[in-house]
Amino acid sequence: VRAFPGLDVPPLIAERGEGAWIYDADGHAYVDYCCSWGALLLGHAHPRVVRAAARQLERGSTFGIATQIEQELAAEVTRLMPSIEKVRFVSSGTEATMTALRLARGHTGRSLIVKFDGNYHGHSDALLVRAGSGVLGLRASTSRGVPEEVVAHTASLPYNDAEAARAFLRTHPAAAVIVEPIAANMGVVPASCSFLETLREETRASGAVLIFDEVISGFRVGLQGAQGLYGVFPDLTCLGKIVGGGFPAAACGGKREIMDHLAPLGEVYQAGTLSGNPLAMCAGVETLQEAQRPGFYEALRRKTALLAQPIREEFSKGKAVGCVNDVCSLLTPFFGVRAVQALPALDAARYRELFCFLFERGVYVPPSPYEAWFLSSAHTEEQIGKTRDLVLEFMRRC
Ligand SMILES: Cc1ncc(COP(=O)(O)O)c(C=O)c1O
Repeated sequence: VRAFPGLDVPPLIAERGEGAWIYDADGHAYVDYCCSWGALLLGHAHPRVVRAAARQLERGSTFGIATQIEQELAAEVTRLMPSIEKVRFVSSGTEATMTALRLARGHTGRSLIVKFDGNYHGHSDALLVRAGSGVLGLRASTSRGVPEEVVAHTASLPYNDAEAARAFLRTHPAAAVIVEPIAANMGVVPASCSFLETLREETRASGAVLIFDEVISGFRVGLQGAQGLYGVFPDLTCLGKIVGGGFPAAACGGKREIMDHLAPLGEVYQAGTLSGNPLAMCAGVETLQEAQRPGFYEALRRKTALLAQPIREEFSKGKAVGCVNDVCSLLTPFFGVRAVQALPALDAARYRELFCFLFERGVYVPPSPYEAWFLSSAHTEEQIGKTRDLVLEFMRRC
């Protein structure tokens, strides 16, 4: 996505960001609906985050040992998300999911991992099977460089198909089932409640570890993430992006009895030079405090509707064929399909035209039809209104 493949415009070279604005190296300004792929819940260079990170930078940028601010963020995460009794900080979402899988395998003594088509869990070898995001653009179902033996223990099932998951899990003892409860790497595709409930029931019955990958949805759709919205709680949760407030941090957390397998208490290895980096921990604490201000998520939801609803209405008029999926601060307009509940076959060419139309007019949305659009608390109604008008103008030309 950084390289703008297949697009007629040169890739964006970012110079600075402020609020919802991003400025490129040539001085053009864009309203940013990528927000560093969801890491920036408060927009660019939020004063509170900048102040805290700068203060910490003067006191040292990394120690490779525990800090009080790491403990503070851990306390905040475990308080806000009751299914997380213990948490381990790492530096990227990829590491968080990789750690969760190793923990699940260490806990159960089994090998099989079950994932779902179009869900992306980072770029560790075992998870590059029918993955979403940039991997969707690859011809092969897995990346080159991943030996068959490495993915032999990974099964990928259709997303949102409760019966297929039930049948498979009853006949295949799995170490883990990993799922994006709100998929956001094939465009935004929320799971149905019955799908998540089935995964919860079947993993409980079979002894598999249920992992929610909330690297995108965590703190984005509410303080308890997708699990709070659905009322379905996993054994392990992966967090990333927002938890580091725009700095490199992620986390894997969950039930104490599973987390206690991690070294040094247990025998499941995990390590990282920059894990729990104090700058990222400071930024995470500030971001979560800001997100707890009264009305924070209500405002995000309202702003998302200001964009999603008129586009939906325009699709319903029938000139442009498509639909919109949205959940608090996440949305995707899908061209060429009337409803999306699983990996969609899209009109990618039409989306690329929309991207270029918006980009040339100062609005930066994801260059790929398989990514989510992200709003932040910094987006203003004026910026959203301008974006809405441009999208509607494009749709009326279709
Ligand atoms: C749901 C999900 N899980 C995991 C990852 C991997 O995170 P990272 O890019 O920080 O390695 C991503 C990245 O976009 C993601 O969207």
